[in-house]
Amino acid sequence: MLKNKEKKLDEAKEMPKILVDSDTAVDLENLAYGVYSPLEGFMLGEEFFSVLDNMRLPNDLPWTLPIVFSVDEKKVSLFKEGDEVALFYPADNPIGFLRVEEVYRYSKEEYALKVFKTKSLEHPGVAKVYGLGDFLVGGKIWLVGETPNPYKQYTLYPAETRILFREKGWRTIAGFQTRNVPHVGHEYVQKTALAFVDGIFINPVIGRKKKGDFTDDLILEAYNTLIKNYYKKDTVVMSILRYEMRYAGPREAIHHAIIRKNFGCTHFIVGRDHAGVGNYYKPYEAQEIFKDFPDLGIVPLFFREFFYCKKCGGIVNEKTCPHSEEFRFRFSGTLIRGKILKGEKPLPEIMRPEISELILSRKNPFVG
Ligand code: ADX
Repeated sequence: MLKNKEKKLDEAKEMPKILVDSDTAVDLENLAYGVYSPLEGFMLGEEFFSVLDNMRLPNDLPWTLPIVFSVDEKKVSLFKEGDEVALFYPADNPIGFLRVEEVYRYSKEEYALKVFKTKSLEHPGVAKVYGLGDFLVGGKIWLVGETPNPYKQYTLYPAETRILFREKGWRTIAGFQTRNVPHVGHEYVQKTALAFVDGIFINPVIGRKKKGDFTDDLILEAYNTLIKNYYKKDTVVMSILRYEMRYAGPREAIHHAIIRKNFGCTHFIVGRDHAGVGNYYKPYEAQEIFKDFPDLGIVPLFFREFFYCKKCGGIVNEKTCPHSEEFRFRFSGTLIRGKILKGEKPLPEIMRPEISELILSRKNPFVG
């Protein structure tokens, strides 16, 4: 947050004013609070193209997803390089400033193909890219306000989580990314990690998601229920990540890991099809990519897909279960969704009954 905020707000009266969308507003906050450290602003052309081509910033630090501010033809005519512009979201709420260092053009096709490995508009991340303005504006930002946040009580910033982990005496912390209500497979992944780290940081993504994903408040309430009933006290911290899922599979797994490193995690969980959508990425591609980043500064914890095996009588994976497919129940999001839409509870081996009941009590558990 800016120190001479009042003076800056006064100066802002003379600046070009730009209304940004909610995703840009959230990115601005993430930049300001160090969620995207070491970035201090929206990417310049050199950074953007280096990230597309090398998955690294020009100074060679790992960085896999563009963090950009796009504007259309109309908005770009309001300012020039060297200007400071005031950013608003919503229209009556000044949230920050941007020093415009560079305005540049880019190819949406190149962006989509390099980041998502497809240019299919069926891919929600690609569709978002094709909806961006034709110009990108790079430069340092300053935050002066706040975007509306209905989940303030669940929000911790990196400076706060780092202190919290220290106060708890945790030396090793595994970060867990999620965009789902927890099924037993998620719980099993977390608890397996907990067997050898001091604490788990459950960090659900809250923000724009795709149709059919669970709603934000349901995810949070489901985690509260799970933690209350099934977790040992003082082994879990949950706070939200305000962030728009990109569904970029492997590249996004690296991005997620960097973010959790910034929150103070020492380890990061990557399971099956992390941040994937449809069949665009191979089930373990988001794990394989980590071999290109030995310098990430956070240790990935890889898990093969867990499932329930009737013959084993518990949760296992292909490394530990000798039985055939007919005995196995998979934690399939599509199957869980199908049951819920029919008003039925998933099996207790798949979802804790308290969570099934919570979901079924909702009129609209899914993003419409
Ligand atoms: S994600 O888009 O945020 O990755 P989700 O919330 O479903 O989706 O998954 C959170 C994390 O749990 C990811 O690392 C994912 O790979 C992992 N995961 C989900 N289900 C399983 C499972 N059955 N076995 C192992 N890991 C899993």
